[in-house]
Amino acid sequence: MTPYYELFVRLVAPYHAVLVHFPVALWTTVALLVFYRAVSDGALARAGDKILVPLLVLSIFSGIAALVSGLLIFPLEAAGASPLIRNHILAASWSLAYWTVFLLTRWINGETVWNGANRWVMLGLAALGTLLITVTGTVGGHIAGKPTTLSVILAWFGWDVYDTFFVPDVMLALIAAAIIGLPVLGWWGSRRSS
Ligand code: HEM
Repeated sequence: MTPYYELFVRLVAPYHAVLVHFPVALWTTVALLVFYRAVSDGALARAGDKILVPLLVLSIFSGIAALVSGLLIFPLEAAGASPLIRNHILAASWSLAYWTVFLLTRWINGETVWNGANRWVMLGLAALGTLLITVTGTVGGHIAGKPTTLSVILAWFGWDVYDTFFVPDVMLALIAAAIIGLPVLGWWGSRRSS
């Protein structure tokens, strides 16, 4: 490790617990704005929608800062040896990737995401994203020695946060089907609408 890199690690790693507040707060705010816009066409809800893209851009940058600072806390070999930390890295990467796709969805499709049934899809997507942040924060709390009862709820669904998270084979088959099926569905839908 070069002295500069070591200095960077020493300066950044202790601030993980501080930095994580930004993506968590921003994604929660986005989810609330999406909920409000999904149930209302009023002026305030539309104004909230207008700041979604800037808020999401900020959330992605702060999410990257949280992710990088997290990766600097322990050497990767040590972090990778703990199922709890591996679960946290998995959930954090999912959260960041998921909200990036959410940003692109709103950015590329503009206000059409609120047309007809699309708004309920947006609401469902925001709810799923909120679940991902909740899991990331819950597991992070366990690493920091602050366990919460949220992990008890996860245990009801068969996942102990201290055990390696496994995706069942059937889920992999569903993901493969979605990778092929969703673009085909999108292509078919765009042909029908044009
Ligand atoms: C989007 C990215 C991330 C978010 C939102 C996030 C969130 C959190 C939260 C909420 C905590 C609890 C803090 C506390 O209560 O004091 C935490 C702790 C922790 N996280 Fe993350 N995390 C992220 C990425 C990562 C990554 C990639 C690692 C890599 C190993 C990591 C490692 C840790 C560790 C070691 C702790 C306990 C020590 C500490 O709080 O500094 N995190 N994280």
